[in-house]
Amino acid sequence: MLVSGRGSNLEALIGAAQDPQCSFSIVLVIAESNAQGRCIAERAGIPTEVVAYDKRRTEKPEREMDRLLREQGVEIVCLAGFKRLLSPWFVGRWRRRVLNIHPSLLPKLRGLETHRRAIEEGHRQHGCSVHIVTEELDAGEVLGQEKLDVREDDSPEILARRVLALEHRLYPRVLEDYARSLVCAEAACREEAAQDAEA
Ligand code: GRF
Repeated sequence: MLVSGRGSNLEALIGAAQDPQCSFSIVLVIAESNAQGRCIAERAGIPTEVVAYDKRRTEKPEREMDRLLREQGVEIVCLAGFKRLLSPWFVGRWRRRVLNIHPSLLPKLRGLETHRRAIEEGHRQHGCSVHIVTEELDAGEVLGQEKLDVREDDSPEILARRVLALEHRLYPRVLEDYARSLVCAEAACREEAAQDAEA
């Protein structure tokens, strides 16, 4: 997982992974230096690494992340509040293997300050989405959403809290389904290869 801040979605995924029926496990958390999420991972006994981004925007941090993820045998990279835009190089190396959670009903409200914009633009419904990360910001295939009705007395802060509670339910559910679908796809590939070899 890649985190830059608070880490509440990371915490929700750690909690879900503790269920013996769960089909994913969290093997590595890569954090930006002062991310609170790093402490959450450490408390849960998950290995952490810190990757520092520099102002020159070099490829170094991403190459380092790529190496660490591969070393740990990571199959899916989950972003949760990761504030850096990943480069086409990284996204290409991990095509359809990077997921992100975004606090809006995509394709509505891509980008920042989604709760304030939802209220200002008079959206009647709002929520969160888990999507595949592509080169374009918040534009990849949506894998799942949770919705709520915007109330008249919602402020951006209240709405953010209400949506966050949905995020904590959504991310584990979508990751579970996605991890299972990858396992099934890989098993089907192996079976096909074995049949080809026999023929
Ligand atoms: C969440 O609202 C998520 O949708 C967005 O950033 C926030 C991260 O929160 N991408 P946390 O660090 O998981 O608590």
